[in-house]
Amino acid sequence: MESVISDSVLLAFEILLLSCFYLQFGTALDTVTPSESIKDPEFLISQGGVFRLGFFSFANSTNRYVGTLYNQIPVQTVVWVANRNKPLKDSSGILNISDDGNLVVLNGKAEILWSSNITNLVPNATTAHLLDSGNLVLSNGEDGASSLWESFKDASNAFIETMKIGTDVQRGLKVELKSWKSIDDPSDGSFSFGFEPFNIPELVIRNNNKLYFRSGPWNGNIFIATIMKTVYIDGFHVVADNQRQVYYITHEYSRLKYYELDSQGKLVERTWDVGKGDWINMYFTSQTESCVYGQCGAFGMCDLTKQPICSCLKGFKPRNIEEWSRGNWSSGCFRTTPLQCQRDKNNGSEAGQGDVDGFLKLKMMKVPAFPDLSSINNGECKDQCLKNCSCVAYAYDAGIGCMFWSGDLIDMQKFSTRGVDLYIRLPSSELDKGKSNKVIVITAAIVGNV
Ligand SMILES: *[C@@H]1O[C@H](CO)[C@@H](O)[C@H](O)[C@H]1NC(C)=O
Ligand SMILES: *[C@@H]1O[C@H](CO)[C@@H](O)[C@H](O)[C@H]1NC(C)=O
Ligand SMILES: *[C@@H]1O[C@H](CO)[C@@H](O)[C@H](O)[C@H]1NC(C)=O
Ligand SMILES: *[C@@H]1O[C@H](CO)[C@@H](O)[C@H](O)[C@H]1NC(C)=O
Ligand SMILES: *[C@@H]1O[C@H](CO)[C@@H](O)[C@H](O)[C@H]1NC(C)=O
Repeated sequence: MESVISDSVLLAFEILLLSCFYLQFGTALDTVTPSESIKDPEFLISQGGVFRLGFFSFANSTNRYVGTLYNQIPVQTVVWVANRNKPLKDSSGILNISDDGNLVVLNGKAEILWSSNITNLVPNATTAHLLDSGNLVLSNGEDGASSLWESFKDASNAFIETMKIGTDVQRGLKVELKSWKSIDDPSDGSFSFGFEPFNIPELVIRNNNKLYFRSGPWNGNIFIATIMKTVYIDGFHVVADNQRQVYYITHEYSRLKYYELDSQGKLVERTWDVGKGDWINMYFTSQTESCVYGQCGAFGMCDLTKQPICSCLKGFKPRNIEEWSRGNWSSGCFRTTPLQCQRDKNNGSEAGQGDVDGFLKLKMMKVPAFPDLSSINNGECKDQCLKNCSCVAYAYDAGIGCMFWSGDLIDMQKFSTRGVDLYIRLPSSELDKGKSNKVIVITAAIVGNV
């Protein structure tokens, strides 16, 4: 009850403040210029009133931040923060254009807490403009000149409509979300979310720069084998242009919705519910649906419906049985019987002679990380893999073609409703084992029960 009252009081106060603002200036400003700065508690409002930029605090804290917020909803919703790592300690803050042309946040002692930090700007010529998209753009004022810096390219933890998260390889540009330390501390947390080219582009979440989650390869339509299967119907647009080496994901809806990388490393879809007057959260990536990257080690497979969740692929055993049984699976598994092609090679003969290797088919799988790519047609993937003794697995997707893996297989997950067929190379002696060993397994089970 208390919070409802204080919210509505706050809203009334804000409306009052807004109307004063409008009365005073006719229209609210949406621009910071060398001669017009804003001081706490002033703010800019984008032309259509969608976003505001100004000073704010989180509950239970007197720290002040400069940031972009949704302007037309009653719940404080921050989508970008300038001085996220250096809060103002009082209400003496100023946002202005400094002598060198950068947008800066200053405290009362004129110390710079944050700067757009672009070199070689023309002094006196730059302005910062808050757009209705929520983008804050620094440019050479006149004729909507090209942007010199923009908040959409210096993202915080929020992925709002028309932002582009991704990588422009040639221009050395990377835009990713960075998590906050906690829900009311916007300083750098440990997670980031981006779209990376690899051999085949994937969405990734990193924890302290180490891979934490991968979406599976983009096949031109969906990210195969992930929970982000609704990507193509849900307002998303993905560009993966190998020619120009430009890779990004963006989104646009008819509803008020955005995505946030929370401080636990989960990507949350937030949709505004007018009736409830609050955001509805839905987790896109969560620990209950997705294994952590590489959790089961090399040649280990993760299945969240099993206990324990990690197991070695058929033909492989835990590298460190003691660690493995304690639930530390990071050392992964090793191949118990060498591949036939390997044995042939060691004996000086050409691969393919005598006994050959075969493939174990695993259904509904998230494919391992870092596939090699080939434009070969389906049906030829298997032959192509067999010809090359470094090839330890393959898979096929119509939008991608053949995928091949060499070396360790990392980050495989077994799903119950999605995924692709993954073929694991094994010596035929291992492939035959299943059938002839049944009797032995049954006997062992009976003995175990006594
Ligand atoms: C500005 O950039 C330089 C190097 O590019 C960096 O060392 C410095 O910390 C940055 N300053 C701010 C205020 O971001
Ligand atoms: C431009 O900046 C200089 C200081 O860098 C200042 O003296 C001058 O008044 C400014 N001119 C305008 C038109 O604001
Ligand atoms: C798991 O095993 C690896 C490899 O031996 C080791 O580096 C790591 O510290 C272990 N992790 C835990 C939580 O014990
Ligand atoms: C190599 O070939 C010899 C016979 O030429 C055979 O006895 C041996 O088992 C082979 N080694 C392997 C590892 O297959
Ligand atoms: C064999 O496969 C590896 C890994 O996919 C690849 O790097 C290599 O070029 C292939 N060799 C041949 C001869 O195709």
